[in-house]
Amino acid sequence: MRIIEDIHEMRREAEDMAARRAECGLVPTMGALHEGHLSLIERSKAENDITAISVFVNPTQFMPGEDYDSYPRTWEKDLEAAERLGMDIVFHPSAEQMYPPRAQTSVQVHGLTRGLCGMSRGQGYFRGVTTVVAKLFNLVRPTRAYFGQKDAQQALVIQRMVIDLNFPVEIVVCPIVREEDGLALSSRNRNIPPEYRDRALALREALLLGRDLIRDKEYDAFRLATAMQERILQDDEIELDCLDIVSPETLEEVEKVDDLVLMAGAIKIGGVRLIDNILVGPDGPWSD
Ligand code: PAJ
Repeated sequence: MRIIEDIHEMRREAEDMAARRAECGLVPTMGALHEGHLSLIERSKAENDITAISVFVNPTQFMPGEDYDSYPRTWEKDLEAAERLGMDIVFHPSAEQMYPPRAQTSVQVHGLTRGLCGMSRGQGYFRGVTTVVAKLFNLVRPTRAYFGQKDAQQALVIQRMVIDLNFPVEIVVCPIVREEDGLALSSRNRNIPPEYRDRALALREALLLGRDLIRDKEYDAFRLATAMQERILQDDEIELDCLDIVSPETLEEVEKVDDLVLMAGAIKIGGVRLIDNILVGPDGPWSD
């Protein structure tokens, strides 16, 4: 396993892979690896000659007042997990190298970043994500890159960027991995105070309620969203960031569930922001 911390070394490695015609899968992460990340890695290993994982807590995607400083950093454990999984490359650049002094360029996807979480976190968040992912693509030059459906909007925004800017990379979106009780795995789960842990399931339960209502033939998006929001607001310790029913392609709000929709939301509990979503239509799927 190669640990690469220098961007020039990463570039040389990418050139070497290209010369050997080796197909490379990239799994971009911010570290604090969990089973969700590992599922992306396994998928990449099955589909590529080489799998690279990047571990970089990207400062430009944290807005002022967000949890950049307290974001979990577990580098030693991440390395152990990478080793155990037989990773080929762990790319771990410094912020100083990724963002040289006087950097003035960013990548922004416009429409798709406006709705859902773009609204609550600001479009600057997605600008940070697309900028760093574009840079990672240029440095690692992967054949395929792996993203999780947990961050459904992020995956869609990246797909859009790749099409619009002609990046020669295939985006693969992988299913959400959950804890036994259904909580979507997230690096931030480590920061949930233990006394709040059970209640962190509120978002998942609201989304399941929405799905049950659709199965019972409630297709009116306003009524569905209201029922789900009420479920979350039952707990006055939970702050509701967003909970919307949107088209899975455009992320525009729908009025009626007459096709597959994305029900996606974000809550804050015990100071931690959690997201989750469900894809469902009038004909299901009724489980995930
Ligand atoms: P991070 O939150 O570390 O997530 C890295 C990848 O793992 C993302 O594609 C995310 O969707 C996926 N992932 C996280 N939890 C998952 C789960 N429970 N099931 C399946 N996949 C899951 O997302 C980021 O980092 C950053 O924004 C990044 C893309 C690395 C850019 O900085």
